[in-house]
Amino acid sequence: RLEKIWLALGMGALLLFLGILGVSAFAMGISPPSGHHHMIDPAKVNETAPFDKPGMKQVADKEYEAVMIAYAFGYDAETMEVPAGSTVHFTVTSSDVVHGLAIPGTNVNLMIVPGEVSQLSYKFTKPGTYLILCNEYCGGGHEYMQAKIIVT
Ligand code: CUA
Repeated sequence: RLEKIWLALGMGALLLFLGILGVSAFAMGISPPSGHHHMIDPAKVNETAPFDKPGMKQVADKEYEAVMIAYAFGYDAETMEVPAGSTVHFTVTSSDVVHGLAIPGTNVNLMIVPGEVSQLSYKFTKPGTYLILCNEYCGGGHEYMQAKIIVT
C-alpha cells in the first residue's frame, strides 16, 4: 500500500517535470511579435548575417533586398544599383547609435536603432539617382551621412 503511494507520487513528479519541459520548449519556440524588429548584437553586426555581406541582392524577378548598416557617419553599402521598376526591400541596422534612413521624394523613412533590424519596401519606378540621408541627429558628422541608389 505504501509502495503504491510512493509510485503514484513518483509518477506525478515525473509528469509535472515533463509538463514543465514541454511548456518551456513551447514558449521558446514562439517567434517575437511582428517581423519588423529582431534583436541583434550591435558589436557583432559585421559578422551577423545578412549584415556580414551588405549590398543589393536580387531575391526575385524585379525584386531586390538592400542590406545596409548605418554607422557614424555613413552607410555600408554606400552605392547600389537596380533597374527601374524594381521593388527594394530595405533591411537595415546600426552598429553604434540611432540613425535615420530617408530618401527625399519617396515615403522611405526609417529609424535605425542599434540592436534592431528595420525593414521597409519601396518600388523604384523612375530612373535616377536617389540620395539616402540620415534624418536622426547622430553627432558631429550627421550631415555628411549619405548613400545612394542608382535606378537605371
Ligand atoms: Cu546618422 Cu544622423
